[in-house]
Amino acid sequence: MLIDAVKGIKAEKALEIGCGCGLISLVLSRNCTEVFAIDICKQACVNTLENLKSNNVNRIIHIVNGDLTTAFRKGSRFDLIASNPPYLPVENSVEEDVSWAAGENNSLSKRLLEEVFPHLSENGIMLLVQSSLSDLSSLKRFVEEKGFTIEEVSIKEFFFEKIIVFKISKPSLV
Ligand SMILES: C[S@@+](CC[C@H](N)C(=O)[O-])C[C@H]1O[C@@H](n2cnc3c(N)ncnc32)[C@H](O)[C@@H]1O
Repeated sequence: MLIDAVKGIKAEKALEIGCGCGLISLVLSRNCTEVFAIDICKQACVNTLENLKSNNVNRIIHIVNGDLTTAFRKGSRFDLIASNPPYLPVENSVEEDVSWAAGENNSLSKRLLEEVFPHLSENGIMLLVQSSLSDLSSLKRFVEEKGFTIEEVSIKEFFFEKIIVFKISKPSLV
C-alpha cells in the first residue's frame, strides 16, 4: 500500500522512517533526487544497504542508523516523508518488538509525528501507515491540533483490522 502511495510522487528530498529491508526507500529513489533511509535497528540498515546495492540505485541515498528524526538538525526539511512504523498498540517488551509494537496508546506514532512536523517543507507531505487496532480518532485529533490536515489515501480491510495509509500535510492557503 505504501509503495502504491509513494511511487508516483516526485520530490527533491525524501525520508523514510523505519526502512526495514529498504524496499520503500528503493521505490522512493526512482523519483526523488536524494533519499534518507532511517532505522533504529542496525541489521535493518545493513539489509537496506545490501538491497539498494543489488538494485543498482543511482541516486543519492543516505542510510542512517538512528531513532526517528533525532539524527537531523533543526532546519532539515523534506518534501516527502514515508513511514510504515510499528503501529500495534502494545508495549515493547523484547528486542524483536521494535518492528511492530507502538506502545499502548500508539505513543510511537505520536512521537514520530511530533518530530516529523518541523521537518516537512512548506508543501511537504507525509504518508503514514496505521492500523484500526489503535485509536485513530485520537491520532487524527493530534494531527489536526498541530495544524495539519490528515486524509485517507487507501484502506485494506482484513477480518480483524483495517490498514490505512494516511496523507498528512499543511492545509493549502487557497
Ligand atoms: C513495520 S516495520 C516497516 C519496515 C519497512 N519499511 C516496510 O514497510 O516493510 C517498522 C520498522 O521501523 C523500525 N523502527 C522501530 N522503531 C523505530 C525508531 N524509533 N526509529 C527508527 N526506526 C524504527 C523497525 O526497526 C522496523 O524496521
